[in-house]
Amino acid sequence: MNILFCAAEMAPLVKVGGLGDVIGGLSRALVQRGHDVRVVIPLYGAIDRSHHQVKPTSVRLVVPTKGKEEPASIWTTTVPGGVRVYLVEHDSYFGGSQVYTANDLDRFWYFSQACLELLGHLPWKPHVLHCHDWHTGGVISLLKSDLRHGPRYRSVASVFTIHNLGYQGWFDYPWAAEAGILGHIPPREHPLHPFLWRTTALGIYHADAVSTVSETYAQQILTPEYGEGLDAVVRHRLEDLYGIVNGIDYEEFDPAADPHLPVTYNIGRMEEKRNLKGTLQAHVGLPTEVETPLLGSIGRLSRQKGIPILVDGIERLLAKGPAQLVVLGEAPAGEEAYEEMLRALEARHPTQVRVIARTDESLARLIYAGSDLFLMPSLYEPCGLGQLIALRYGTVPVVRRTGGLADTVLEHPIMGNGFLFDGATDGADLVRTLERALSLFRQKEQWQRLVARAMSSDVSWHRASQKYEDLYSQAVKIHKEREGTLG
Ligand code: GLC
Repeated sequence: MNILFCAAEMAPLVKVGGLGDVIGGLSRALVQRGHDVRVVIPLYGAIDRSHHQVKPTSVRLVVPTKGKEEPASIWTTTVPGGVRVYLVEHDSYFGGSQVYTANDLDRFWYFSQACLELLGHLPWKPHVLHCHDWHTGGVISLLKSDLRHGPRYRSVASVFTIHNLGYQGWFDYPWAAEAGILGHIPPREHPLHPFLWRTTALGIYHADAVSTVSETYAQQILTPEYGEGLDAVVRHRLEDLYGIVNGIDYEEFDPAADPHLPVTYNIGRMEEKRNLKGTLQAHVGLPTEVETPLLGSIGRLSRQKGIPILVDGIERLLAKGPAQLVVLGEAPAGEEAYEEMLRALEARHPTQVRVIARTDESLARLIYAGSDLFLMPSLYEPCGLGQLIALRYGTVPVVRRTGGLADTVLEHPIMGNGFLFDGATDGADLVRTLERALSLFRQKEQWQRLVARAMSSDVSWHRASQKYEDLYSQAVKIHKEREGTLG
């Protein structure tokens, strides 16, 4: 099948969070299965053009956006694994060093319009247009409503994937009027009318099929508690809603061949993993103690990630006995308070806690490899990739039972690969679970067996890419039926 992805990030070209990893890993897995997958992303200033061999093409687009016409030049490259990427150049929107900024609605609206324009200029036609998160939800409603390009567009089926319903691309009436999309929103009498003023809602409402990145999150977003104000729109699509758990790229994340690590290891060579623990402790300036359990945590320092639970849980844990914690991640604009909370914890326990507030891929790999346990106390988690990487690196995950964390971590005496807790109000439940984990940690043989099970959990893209194939076939079928009813 021919599939065109439209997204805001793609590893290895540009990655801020899990979205980038998924676009890179899933596209490559589908290419390996024989599909022709191509990806469109913006050409950010942050992308290293010479390193990734990003070259200009002769394609120039005129992009209608909010009553104006703006130019776009298309660049291209093929990333390792054979995925062809098109990059949309517009310097005043994307030329800066930041991937995300304060004016993202207008930037990604322009990008969405450019994706649609590009579709008309490619000497190649996708069977399915696959858009990801709020940045490109609008491409789907534009595709459906914009028949300027005639029947060529009509036969393209669409899939919208929700990676995180917490980010929605809100707009208001004047903005929609200027963008010329009032017709994308059903009339005032329609029960969903009040909810559709967000690009992510347009994607969910108009796509032929909708998916999200785990089975549990697919159930959760049907409820007001997790629906972020869009549960009614999600429920409207219940019949066409799929939950597919993400994988990780086994070549990219491989403890036996990770170029970021000073030494590599595998299930038969675990001595090196123990050495990496010492390397990590020394690197972040914590005492190099082999027996002290070392806990790692990596991710956005945002509300979603349950930082207050983490801080309270660690505070309680340190009152009971020795342990170390390394946290790596940045707070998004407006959520700096979470970084402050962690810094205060570090100030209270300077020889046990280290907080490194930046993104640093090499250090991230050292934390995945060198820690004993990996913490994810998320309030909600559509899928979560950190726990999958931790499993692959033999670092036992301790996670809150929500979303994709509940679907990928199993606590069980014989079959388990990690530990789960429920409490969301404070760290009481987390610390009980950590004590359970640490009592096993002290029983060396049992712990080794648990680590081996973690490392042999299948967290690859293999299963998921088959499920995406089914989803694409389903979307094509739904599209044909819908087209039939349109006449
Ligand atoms: C978002 C979600 C995360 C998910 C990722 C990729 O970052 O918060 O749970 O794993 O997207 O789908």
